[in-house]
Amino acid sequence: MTATIERGAATEPVASAAPPPRKVRFLTSSNGKKVVMAVTGAVMVLFLVGHMVGNLKIFIGKDSFNEYAHALRTLLEPIAPYRTLLTLVEIVLVVSVGLHIWAAVSLSRQARRARPVKYVARKKSQASGYTTHIMRWGGVTIALFVVWHLLDLTFGVVNPKGTNSLPADRMIAGFDPSRWWVTIIYVVAVVMVGLHLRHGIWSMFQTVGRGTARLRPVAALVSAVLVIGFLAPPLAITFGVVK
Ligand code: HEM
Repeated sequence: MTATIERGAATEPVASAAPPPRKVRFLTSSNGKKVVMAVTGAVMVLFLVGHMVGNLKIFIGKDSFNEYAHALRTLLEPIAPYRTLLTLVEIVLVVSVGLHIWAAVSLSRQARRARPVKYVARKKSQASGYTTHIMRWGGVTIALFVVWHLLDLTFGVVNPKGTNSLPADRMIAGFDPSRWWVTIIYVVAVVMVGLHLRHGIWSMFQTVGRGTARLRPVAALVSAVLVIGFLAPPLAITFGVVK
């Protein structure tokens, strides 16, 4: 591309746009996008581990759970205003989700462009097809679930206890035995999260050069622990173990 610079009366074509800085070029290259996926994925896994441990407080008691939810909002007081930490977490999560989806979509477009002819080997095609479907549709399902989940347990809009209620009451009312269908939605969504993570964590290991077969079970174990830890509270409430 060329542009013109005015020099007195005369104009002459010169090379225009300087190439983008090296860091930008790296982050928009396919290796850079994989790093973006790995880093944002790791941030989300850390959030999920913390979130799962926090949810398990419901087994200690309603008060313990409410105190934890309160602490999330008051932790940096009085140095910083009410809800500072939670707002920071929300900003980091929104940015991570956005970058993660951007990198995923553009990597998959790049891969499609580089492969104008469909796979010839049928076996390979089916295996890759399964992973692609799980990652793509699993990602969409998780995004829809998170919207429902926030309306339910954060804002209380679709929760029987409504907006002005304590977090533990929302949780227990939300998974009441009469609302078994909500628990089923959570089970399906959390299993999707687990499958997404199993492949995602493994890809993350590959991106950082640790993709040896020995680490495959680690990805599966982390995902399984998260699935079990997340599903324990809803199932315990629906089956009447926690009231
Ligand atoms: C299945 C079991 C789960 C339960 C019982 C649960 C419970 C909760 C509760 C009670 C809150 C509100 C916390 C508060 O207002 O203090 C919350 C917020 C949230 N949850 Fe979950 N959660 C579960 C799974 C998940 C999963 C799998 C994800 C992500 C894929 C997720 C993402 C979030 C997010 C993003 C928030 C908002 C955090 C904020 O306040 O900014 N949750 N969850």
